[in-house]
Amino acid sequence: MCGILGYEGALQATPLIFKGLKQLSYRGYDSWGICAQTKKGLQTFKRVGDITKSNEPKFDSTKAIGHTRWATHGKVTQKNAHPHLNESGTIAVVHNGIIENADDLRLALEDEGYKFKSETDTEVIPHLLDYFAKRYDDHTALLKTLKHLKGSYAFLALLKGRLAFARDGSPLVIGLSNSGKFISSDIPSFLHHTRKTIVLEDGDWGFADEDRIYSGKEIVSRPARIESWDVEVAKKGTYPHFMLKEIEEQQMTIRKALNQDGRIKIAADLLSRSEVYILGCGTSYNTGAIASYELAKAGIRAIPSLASEFEPHLPFINEDSIIIALSQSGETKDVIDAVREAKKKQAKIISIVNTPGSTLARGADIHIPMKSGPEICVLSTKSATAQLAILSLLTHEIENKSPDLLREAAACAPHVIAQTKRVAKQLAKKLKDTRSIFTIGRGPLAPLAREAALKIKEVSYIHAEGMPAGELKHGPIALIEPGVPVIVFADSNTRTLTISNALEVKARGAYVIGIDSKNHPAYDTHIQIPDIEEATPMLALLPIQLLSYYLALERGCDPDKPRNLAKSVTVR
Ligand code: AGP
Repeated sequence: MCGILGYEGALQATPLIFKGLKQLSYRGYDSWGICAQTKKGLQTFKRVGDITKSNEPKFDSTKAIGHTRWATHGKVTQKNAHPHLNESGTIAVVHNGIIENADDLRLALEDEGYKFKSETDTEVIPHLLDYFAKRYDDHTALLKTLKHLKGSYAFLALLKGRLAFARDGSPLVIGLSNSGKFISSDIPSFLHHTRKTIVLEDGDWGFADEDRIYSGKEIVSRPARIESWDVEVAKKGTYPHFMLKEIEEQQMTIRKALNQDGRIKIAADLLSRSEVYILGCGTSYNTGAIASYELAKAGIRAIPSLASEFEPHLPFINEDSIIIALSQSGETKDVIDAVREAKKKQAKIISIVNTPGSTLARGADIHIPMKSGPEICVLSTKSATAQLAILSLLTHEIENKSPDLLREAAACAPHVIAQTKRVAKQLAKKLKDTRSIFTIGRGPLAPLAREAALKIKEVSYIHAEGMPAGELKHGPIALIEPGVPVIVFADSNTRTLTISNALEVKARGAYVIGIDSKNHPAYDTHIQIPDIEEATPMLALLPIQLLSYYLALERGCDPDKPRNLAKSVTVR
């Protein structure tokens, strides 16, 4: 939900932190701040608003920490912006996550005479460090602080002139460069300087000026790795927004997602013998729900579950259960927590994740990489079609079917994107002032309709509701008035019944947009997609992503950083 970044080395730290925070701003952009260790002590600069629209502070320092915030505790104010300091201004902290026992700690610290300036949970950390640093050496002070924190956190601290780090439940990765050490929430923040990383695990802590990493009181070894991510992919290049860039990248990323190794066969064999649950949140839940229909046709009963609502399934999880965990970031707390509970019941985990080295990528029995490269836009676009491609690939493997049709669908992506751009732009102009948009479909196109509504609402702020077409007449049709736009998804399997639902809304004056391989008089506007049955959801998503993007532009919304959202939801 937030991005944190620290640097200690030979170079001026503030420019590195300022630039790196911009790469992390997709994780939260309510406010930002930097604290540098200078000859005059700690110097801090913090502002409300998006760092990409701010000027760089100037501090003469080779050691600094920075933060870009998605507000969880406390309003979006300068006072609540990180870094947070102790009263004497000798300790500064930036934090990503939630300290669940912050209220109790605050009361205890206030009883010890500490005064708080902010409404945040984070501010307990610098005061705790202050309390213990006055009584113990640096290591003991940090370790005792950690022992008092409950919840999920990754934090960096400037503590008595040293850069300290700790993670438990939120991501943190070290970048080892020739000029010094970066410690960050995510790799793109230092990718220009190094690809050599050490991914920290929950419970890890230490100081940047040491080569040791601790977990509890033990020194642990964490292997370094060389990241394969391309620096260019983490930049906008000539595109006006990451969202458009990443939509267009699907011309290659769907094909890359289909290019997997033997893990697909191993996973397919596992699925054939087990009870399967597909976990995810938001788009990653919708793609799992879409895939569950195709898996059912292959004889696999795969139960899609919102990760945050997995509890009712837990009593049925055992060593014969398989959990497919879908996540672009690999750090979504709801999914991590559900997977952890399933593992306690000996379930096997297959994770389909985009971010290398992420918690869900590392914590699975079988990890299938999405290979989409960094997805910077808060909306999941190329990661959604990559998930659908891999889930289809798994189904083809189970049925012993050649994936040629999927590769044909991947080859259609450039054409679909190019062909539907114009109509998406025109539709966005027509729909930009509409109050609500409804999306409907049947079978796998029902969760696709839900995904379409999610795309539209989260980036254009137009209320959009996606539902199974068969559900319309059980209530929602009461909302259909003349001119209300209804987007209809249909394919050869579902067209007959779906068209009758389209005619029901049309009879009440709805403006019907058909996304279908065939046109029909029920459609006021028709968006043509190729007729490749099992790939319809993947291909139908492309025009929807474009429509959502152009709706955002028409309404003056930021397509890459929609209000109130963050790319990686690392809190529950
Ligand atoms: C989708 O456009 C949203 N960005 C959001 O629903 C996202 O899919 C969800 O938060 C899950 O994220 P993950 O794939 O990184 O786990």
